[in-house]
Amino acid sequence: MGDTCVGSHRVKLAIAFAREDEECRLCRHERGYRRASLGWQLIAKPPKRGGNAHPLAESLCLCPPPYVSRVIRLIEENSALIARRAGRAIQITAVTARDRSKDRGVDLSAYRWVDDMGELATADDVDVVVELVGGSDGPALTLARETLSNARALVTANKAMIAHHGSELATLAEERNAALKFEAAVAGGIPVIQGLRDGAAANRIDRVYGILNGTCNFILSTMEREGLDFAEVLADAQAKGFAEADPSFDIDGIDAAHKLSILASLSFGSQIDFGGVEARGIRKLLAADIAQANALGYRIRLIGLAEIDGENGSATIFQRVQPCLVPLLHPLAHVMGATNAVVAEGNFSGRLLFQGAGAGDKPTASAVVADLVDIARKEVGPAFSMPCAELEKLPRAASAHRVGKTYLRMLVADRVGVLAEITAAMRDAGLSIESLIQTEASNDGSALIAMVTHAGAEQAINDTLAALAPSDSLLGEPMVMHILGE
Ligand SMILES: NC(=O)c1ccc[n+]([C@@H]2O[C@H](COP(=O)([O-])OP(=O)(O)OC[C@H]3O[C@@H](n4cnc5c(N)ncnc54)[C@H](OP(=O)(O)O)[C@@H]3O)[C@@H](O)[C@H]2O)c1
Repeated sequence: MGDTCVGSHRVKLAIAFAREDEECRLCRHERGYRRASLGWQLIAKPPKRGGNAHPLAESLCLCPPPYVSRVIRLIEENSALIARRAGRAIQITAVTARDRSKDRGVDLSAYRWVDDMGELATADDVDVVVELVGGSDGPALTLARETLSNARALVTANKAMIAHHGSELATLAEERNAALKFEAAVAGGIPVIQGLRDGAAANRIDRVYGILNGTCNFILSTMEREGLDFAEVLADAQAKGFAEADPSFDIDGIDAAHKLSILASLSFGSQIDFGGVEARGIRKLLAADIAQANALGYRIRLIGLAEIDGENGSATIFQRVQPCLVPLLHPLAHVMGATNAVVAEGNFSGRLLFQGAGAGDKPTASAVVADLVDIARKEVGPAFSMPCAELEKLPRAASAHRVGKTYLRMLVADRVGVLAEITAAMRDAGLSIESLIQTEASNDGSALIAMVTHAGAEQAINDTLAALAPSDSLLGEPMVMHILGE
């Protein structure tokens, strides 16, 4: 319950929990709110269709994870403020999850529990379904398709589903004139989707990049601070609950690739192309890489970068997630812990930096409810930055011609002539060294060479590594990381 002022009269609102036989105490609108039920997928619904609906209500129904509890709490706690901003109340009408008996940290007894998620897409008292189940396919996708097909709005935090099926779902949403919103799917609580789609709508954006995975950034920041290797930090992060038991989506760059493909589509007005993202994660990083990068004036960050190469007509799209060396003067070098940051370069706005909590229950709930407020305000608009028919299908750019500085780390046999062998391969490929560090030989007779090259084509790096591959001077696979340019 809370006071709010909407239109010309002040209304005492009971947003989600008013009984069916209650009326609005101020405007006396009859039976405006029904006892809501909230499920583990959040679904929102406005007034009953064609019935005596309260003019201010937006009803909603929720589907599952732990941060749904936070969505529920947020809607309950900030109900009056949300109603003032949205112009109508948001009312939770149903919830669902697999296990009804699980303690989810909020009292759900007031809400209708639905066992079959499919019911949410057709229920009369549901206008918005909030899908927080996860997974690119399976029940989440079925629910999304059914919801939009039935002309209900869909709010989702599911980056995997949007990355794989975003075009199909956006087309369905357009056909049915239903809203499809996914602010929580990219960079948690940071309003980057809205920022790119609306705030930067006037700009041509040719480059978008950033730190898109909080787990990786937490691991990298900790490796740097503690001087530990990747495996040790990952084990600790898992023990503390910062990393999943199966962390592969995060640490292999897949999660960041999902988000990058969404950002690229929004930024460039192109069709989403998750399959075109090259993804490499942070598994192979050593504490020594972090230390050498620091000594050379850089920090290592997992960067997702998407860029348009070429002009209209011949434009191609380049998308890559990989650990990069970030110059200490660059703002992304100072993004620590589980924080996310996105940089977009608009031709009139200049460089835009969005930064904030990339995950977690409160930021994610904040993004989910922001989408609900948009829907309550009837700010529907295209799911991506323009109608689906306007989104360009861009060919993928090749990487070999890309020019930049590169970090190369090699574990080598500590014997005379090894460095000459490496530099000869680089010379033959047309690559020169800007700075180089060689560590003292360890007891096992190996030494570590880390270097940063002058700007050169990626093909030259490939040629160097191909020339060195048969050599028994190299002990293990070299580590290649590109350096984030200005
Ligand atoms: N966690 C975050 O901070 C965060 C941030 C941004 C976006 N996301 C996105 O949010 C989604 C969920 O992620 P999560 O890590 O929170 O997942 P999770 O912990 O596995 O939660 C999934 C929830 O979905 C429910 N569920 C699964 N299958 C279902 C079915 N067939 N019918 C009904 N309910 C079902 C589960 O119910 P039970 O509890 O009964 O098993 C569980 O509550 C993903 O798309 C993820 O990318 C998460």
